[in-house]
Amino acid sequence: MEKLRHIVSTRQFADTQLLEVLLDSAAKMEAADKLRELPQSMRGLILATLFYEPSTRTRFSFEAAMQKLGGSVLTAENARESSSSTKGESITDTIRIVNGYADAIAMRHYQEGAAKIAAEASLVPLINAGDGAGEHPTQALGDIFTIRKELGKVEGLKVALIGDLLYGRTIHSLLPLLSLYKDVEVSLISPPSLRLPEKYTRELTERGVSFVETDRLAWAIERADVLYVTRVQRERFASDEEYERVKDAYVIDAAIADALKKKAIIMHALPRLGEISPEVDANYRAAYFRQAKNALYIRMALLDYLLG
Ligand code: CP
Repeated sequence: MEKLRHIVSTRQFADTQLLEVLLDSAAKMEAADKLRELPQSMRGLILATLFYEPSTRTRFSFEAAMQKLGGSVLTAENARESSSSTKGESITDTIRIVNGYADAIAMRHYQEGAAKIAAEASLVPLINAGDGAGEHPTQALGDIFTIRKELGKVEGLKVALIGDLLYGRTIHSLLPLLSLYKDVEVSLISPPSLRLPEKYTRELTERGVSFVETDRLAWAIERADVLYVTRVQRERFASDEEYERVKDAYVIDAAIADALKKKAIIMHALPRLGEISPEVDANYRAAYFRQAKNALYIRMALLDYLLG
């Protein structure tokens, strides 16, 4: 198994081999954390978190992961305004400089493709923590970890992806991972203007994944094992009018949650706005807060894999 130097895209995972290694490692991290016996494998190492876009979960969980494993953190939580990019410094130069101070970099950027540029310039592991409407690979790895934990397997599941499939980078990263498992069926449910880009539907076809595209939420309610809801990504829209037209296209309320299969789960990368009513939180199928916690352990597993 060739070792990955950077994590830029879930398309770097050719099969489930490395994925399963990371999932097992994340499970061990979780068990060790509960016993307060986490390995201190990051002692003496520094992670730089370079965030050009806002974040709560991703940045904090990377920083918590690094610190719980004995490492330390340098953080630029608002790099778009507080770093020398405001003076016109290129991503490449910034990465070269941070290479001198940190042993790994987790970077979130507003431009799709920025993580690839950064990784090409980086001598230390570069982790894509979200690049515009492109990808969010560590979120997707955490999502697979959540599905496996909640449902015991990924093979053969019916997964409904709902909402903003055009700009939803978590979806763009999750689909290639789902495609690595046998007999997964995908429903792509979105308003016509927020459909999954054609390059991704073509990829699903090439990978032999069975999928349907529809704007009808009802299609998924009775079938789905996983209802994966996404936020409509306001920050990617050209105008507020356009956003207002589609922002409430789907709302998962208590009645919808109750109508799902008994063993179904509801996922969301968060933050959520109106697309999942707060009343759903009390439903045992609501897995999204557990999902956010799980991402801590997959990020520990990733740091351990890249730097351990
Ligand atoms: N899921 C996720 O990426 O959340 P943040 O934007 O808060 O990091």
